[in-house]
Amino acid sequence: MKQLTSRLGLLALMMTLCMAAMAQKPHVHILATGGTIAGAGSSTTGSNYTAGQVAIGTLLDAVPEVNDVAEVTGEQIVNIGSQDMTDDVWLTLSKRINEIFENNEADAVVITHGTDTMEETAFWLSLTVKSKRPVVLVGAMRSSTAMSADGPLNLYNAVVAAADKASADKGVMVAMNGILIPGQIVSKTNTTSVETFQASTGGPIGYVFGGKVYYNMSYGLTAQRIVFDVSNLTKLPKVGIIYAYSNIEADMLDPILNGGYKGVIHAGLGNGNIHKNVFPVLEKAREQGILVVRSSRVPSGNTTLDAEVDDNKYEFIASQSLSPQKARILLMLSLTTTTDWQQIQKYFNLFM
Ligand code: SIN
Repeated sequence: MKQLTSRLGLLALMMTLCMAAMAQKPHVHILATGGTIAGAGSSTTGSNYTAGQVAIGTLLDAVPEVNDVAEVTGEQIVNIGSQDMTDDVWLTLSKRINEIFENNEADAVVITHGTDTMEETAFWLSLTVKSKRPVVLVGAMRSSTAMSADGPLNLYNAVVAAADKASADKGVMVAMNGILIPGQIVSKTNTTSVETFQASTGGPIGYVFGGKVYYNMSYGLTAQRIVFDVSNLTKLPKVGIIYAYSNIEADMLDPILNGGYKGVIHAGLGNGNIHKNVFPVLEKAREQGILVVRSSRVPSGNTTLDAEVDDNKYEFIASQSLSPQKARILLMLSLTTTTDWQQIQKYFNLFM
């Protein structure tokens, strides 16, 4: 009888521990960088405001509901408009996130960020964060003092998405206006609308509604992941973008040839085509050892290999689905490992 009582006691203790473990909320750590979500203006209706004014504590105070879904902590990395984003901030973010996951400091990370370069930071992180745990970027199109500010709901949705078990292997995503878009394929498509963020290919991965996450489909890009080790990097190779247009003149490219650039992205015409005035300069750049990537100024569709341009002959790289600004990030990171254009083309081929 005594033995039975002690067994029952042990069972009850185990069940209590199990239930306590189940009731434990996931830990979501917020890294704040500024942006309109932390912006403030003097009028609730005017369009004038300054980004990056409000600290993370104040942002979180406006959305106490996040504490119902997660243990939330915050850390201010910078407080800037994302138009001023730098390589240094990107390196800081990647190193900090890798450290958080390696030390098990949190189950997921949310980054508050301006929308102007959010797609670039999301793409950067998708190439440099080693873990597949959720890293959810969020911002706002209306400042924190505007009427119908979108920041609080966006922030709540981002924490909901980060905390959900179904997000455990989804990696980097953007949570804006109720939808979730993978970091590799997200783009800002409208200068002022709250529904500005869209997926360049394949559509959103899911959405958040009423405090719940709904994933639409399995996500193939995670299988083809490439991760660059930035732990020892303090600086990135210099890579610039040249934007093509009718009648462009060759001297536009002078800084590329003489400015210490290691690579150039040509935001070309149509399927990455190059004006005849510019072609010889890009050939010369390549002869000087500068990597040349053909991308396109057209907002959708791939820049494909060997179409009107014989990439093999000129040792040019086709950007596949990557926009010029994302191609720049992949080329910078590629150049930290190799200058072999064929190997770099293989990296770009992961983004068909
Ligand atoms: C910024 O990118 O920091 C300003 C614009 C915005 O957040 O929407």
